[in-house]
Amino acid sequence: MARKYLVETFGCQMNFHDGERISGLLESEGYEPAASEAEADLLVLNTCSVRERAEEKLYSRLGEIRLAAASCDRQPQIAVTGCVAQQEGDALLTRNLPIDVVVGTQAIRQLPALLTEAKARQTPRVDINPYEDVSFPLGVAKASDPTRAWVTIIEGCNEFCSFCVVPYTRGHERMRPVADILAEVQRAADSGRLEVQLLGQIVNHYQAPDDPGCDFPELLRRVSQIDGLRRVRFASPHPRHASDRLIEVMQSTPKICRHFHLPVQSGSNRVLKEMRRRYSREEYLALVDRLRAAMPDISVSTDIIVGFPGETAEDFEATLDLVRRVGFSFIYSFKYSPRPNTLADKRMADDVQESVKTSRIMTLQQLQAEIQVSLFQAMIGRTVEVLVEGPSRRRDWEMTGKTPGWVTVNFPGPATLVGQLVTVRLTAAAPNSVRGELVEAASAH
Ligand code: 5AD
Ligand code: SF4
Repeated sequence: MARKYLVETFGCQMNFHDGERISGLLESEGYEPAASEAEADLLVLNTCSVRERAEEKLYSRLGEIRLAAASCDRQPQIAVTGCVAQQEGDALLTRNLPIDVVVGTQAIRQLPALLTEAKARQTPRVDINPYEDVSFPLGVAKASDPTRAWVTIIEGCNEFCSFCVVPYTRGHERMRPVADILAEVQRAADSGRLEVQLLGQIVNHYQAPDDPGCDFPELLRRVSQIDGLRRVRFASPHPRHASDRLIEVMQSTPKICRHFHLPVQSGSNRVLKEMRRRYSREEYLALVDRLRAAMPDISVSTDIIVGFPGETAEDFEATLDLVRRVGFSFIYSFKYSPRPNTLADKRMADDVQESVKTSRIMTLQQLQAEIQVSLFQAMIGRTVEVLVEGPSRRRDWEMTGKTPGWVTVNFPGPATLVGQLVTVRLTAAAPNSVRGELVEAASAH
């Protein structure tokens, strides 16, 4: 009988897509998806280490698994993949945790063989070698999202922002050949997916290794020309690499969604410098102005860290001021968390008190909630295009989906609409979504 697997992914979109790759790889080796944890012969914990809290999730999850195993005689094999695996390697095995295999971010291809070896030899196996195979195993990714395809264009990062562990866990930047990217997007379009999301740590740093004429704007142009595809997105660009040509290509290509997720991290020039972000608040604001001048309806969202070492009340005020000025459509906000190997951790004390971090993040989130409500209220009465993702979280007779600007829209409608683009008239604003009514089931081009 085929062995059954379950992949649990923590963290970012990149990791989510790695989970799809791992699933595809396992299925190509004869594994079948398990319907529940109780049925699984193999559990893959695909981990995140961007903040300490994310890392702790792995340890508490492994604790739960050990407890469950103690009370029944079925013991699934446990594999740890992703950023914690890469960061900790062998050290994971010294903690008396139920782990059979540890596989780093650039060694996923080794997973099936290591599982077999670990089982045969009854001893844990670890591989965190940086094989650097950028194209692994993109061909076999199991698409688990019926509405949009996630396509990696760059792996790793060379930017070394002082707070960030990613260059250490995902390795240095490797670009994927444009021919492979286009082929994968074509396959996604052929499978009926209307939207593609291009992924990279600094997605707009792309330069095709197989075509000197193909930088990120050109890649966007070529992807947009693929038949059947209706929407193109990307995450995340770095402000430093957002060129005028990128803005021009977006402006002249309606298929590219009017959304720019542009991590700012802080509104204080002093903090930005310590973070090694290599742009100033003025440059950031000027970029937002240029985006809006070219595309007045574009939504801009961001990531912000509060409580970076040395962040003063004044620095934090500068962040609030930037948030007020830009009017972000949403913000992912985080309390600074020291990460191993990073420059900030080595050179700076984590000196903003936890209580201060908490009060700052709450102030920021309160401000953002107010901004969001007014942005959402201004949308009422408008008609928008929504890509339908599935039933809404709260009511199963309601569908949920996203506008081009990544606003969540809920509306009464049948499940047959999943995966389609529909037109919705917006009627009421909620804190994190907008409600509406269906105008047209299949939206016109
Ligand atoms: N502490 C807090 N937040 C962090 N991020 C990255 N590293 C850290 C850290 N050490 C946040 C940044 C980044 C997002 C993915 O996670 O805002 O853009
Ligand atoms: Fe981390 Fe900075 Fe690279 Fe983003 S650009 S992955 S924040 S080092």
